[in-house]
Amino acid sequence: MKRILITGANGFIGSTLIDHALARGWEVTAGVRPSSDRSNLTGDKIQFLHLHFDNETALQRELEQAGRFDYVVHIAGTTKALKREDYFRANTEYTRRFVDILHGERLRPEKFLFLSSLAALGPVNGNERIHPGRKPAPVTAYGASKLAAEQYLERLSEFPWVALQPAGVFGPRDKDILEFIRLVNKGFEFYIGARPQNVSLIYVKDLAEMMLAALEHGVTGRKYIATDSRDYTTDDLGQAVRETLNRRTLRLRLPLSVVGVIASISETLGRWRGRMPAFNREKLNEIGEAGWWSDVSQTFEELHFTPRYDLFSGMQETVAWYREKKWI
Ligand SMILES: NC(=O)c1ccc[n+]([C@@H]2O[C@H](COP(=O)([O-])OP(=O)(O)OC[C@H]3O[C@@H](n4cnc5c(N)ncnc54)[C@H](OP(=O)(O)O)[C@@H]3O)[C@@H](O)[C@H]2O)c1
Repeated sequence: MKRILITGANGFIGSTLIDHALARGWEVTAGVRPSSDRSNLTGDKIQFLHLHFDNETALQRELEQAGRFDYVVHIAGTTKALKREDYFRANTEYTRRFVDILHGERLRPEKFLFLSSLAALGPVNGNERIHPGRKPAPVTAYGASKLAAEQYLERLSEFPWVALQPAGVFGPRDKDILEFIRLVNKGFEFYIGARPQNVSLIYVKDLAEMMLAALEHGVTGRKYIATDSRDYTTDDLGQAVRETLNRRTLRLRLPLSVVGVIASISETLGRWRGRMPAFNREKLNEIGEAGWWSDVSQTFEELHFTPRYDLFSGMQETVAWYREKKWI
């Protein structure tokens, strides 16, 4: 039986991985903050560990008290921050601090998995494809902060790390795509730019299995793009949601200039509230002409992994879950 520590365990992706690790019969420890909302973590076999990433001494003490884990998955990170330095603190600096402690012989795991993002590689033009070995060119502070964490890992010797770079993740408990689904449910589909955008996606349950596959089969020092391998456009996303909800919609394509104004307003309101909304000005760099189709041909073979869902089957489960929880 493996002993696994998962940080960011209460979040959308972390809590799904917790479920999958428990299903394997592993001893599962959820790394959370004292302030974290634990409502996604209901399994009675879950052990909890408070991790103070903002305090190096406390973090060291907490990890030493918990003892060595076979596997450590570092998912904690911010996707929406008010300032550039907030991304670098949570995504780069905390990862460095965490890894420095785990690097020591006594705590070093068999495998450390860093959940990065496709944003660390950055988009390509139109119908081009993102290849794993491409020179990274992030277009957001978020992507740059994930890349900086990857680069720190790359400089380490004798630390058994792997990284996954997921594309857009969707599934039960996700609150980002939920807004789009709610609008479709009300009969509206809004798209950004004149043409559909090329996107890559992965259903959260497949991502959880891919993370476990990366722990078991990932090659140390390797970074793997995580998608379901299919080429989608934003129109496919709309169709999947519309068909699953069985709704007729009014479809509107908003010019980038108009969306820029909406993003500015949304960001300003977010700053007043002290919380960056999912849709902000920086996000615009990742949409419009930016393409996210990716090459994962080698990845699945190396990780002995095959996705079980596509956008349409994943969306059916997601919408059913939202309905059951009365989120829509
Ligand atoms: N969702 C996607 O489409 C996607 C795609 C690619 C990569 N990722 C990566 O996946 C990870 C999880 O994303 P998610 O979608 O599951 O987000 P989420 O639901 O917001 O979960 C984020 C998790 O990270 C923790 N966290 C956030 N800021 C932190 C900080 N400053 N210090 C310590 N812990 C912090 C949160 O703890 P609290 O609840 O206490 O705040 C929570 O457990 C992130 O690293 C993200 O970059 C996500």
